[in-house]
Amino acid sequence: MALIMWNDIYSVHIKEIDDQHKKLIKMVNELNSAMGLGKGREIMGSILAGLIDYTKSHFGTEEELMQKYLYPGYLSHKANHDALTKQVINIMNAFQEGKSIVTIEVMNFLKDWLVNHIQNADQKYAPYLNSKGVV
Ligand code: FEO
Repeated sequence: MALIMWNDIYSVHIKEIDDQHKKLIKMVNELNSAMGLGKGREIMGSILAGLIDYTKSHFGTEEELMQKYLYPGYLSHKANHDALTKQVINIMNAFQEGKSIVTIEVMNFLKDWLVNHIQNADQKYAPYLNSKGVV
């Protein structure tokens, strides 16, 4: 069963961003399934690396839009992105050094991170960007 399900309450009413959020949810679910199936370190590492790359690319998309339309909350949102990116990179580093495996705690962190960020921080820029015609 999926760890996280897309819900329309997550929508920021910007198709490109909603599609990226759906893909991030899918990737976290894939990581969770791989963990549940006891997949090897190589496969887990590759899924985790893909998730990090896509997360960075997604944050970049949002940050470009926020800068382009002079979103007043840009700096605090970017700080939030930077902190989250650092946390995920720390998980990857620990994984690569063999200090930890991807555990249920890590999955719960990713789930909370994703859902909380999408439901809170991302919802704050949505009406602003929507009002600028970004949909
Ligand atoms: Fe969708 Fe601010 O990350």
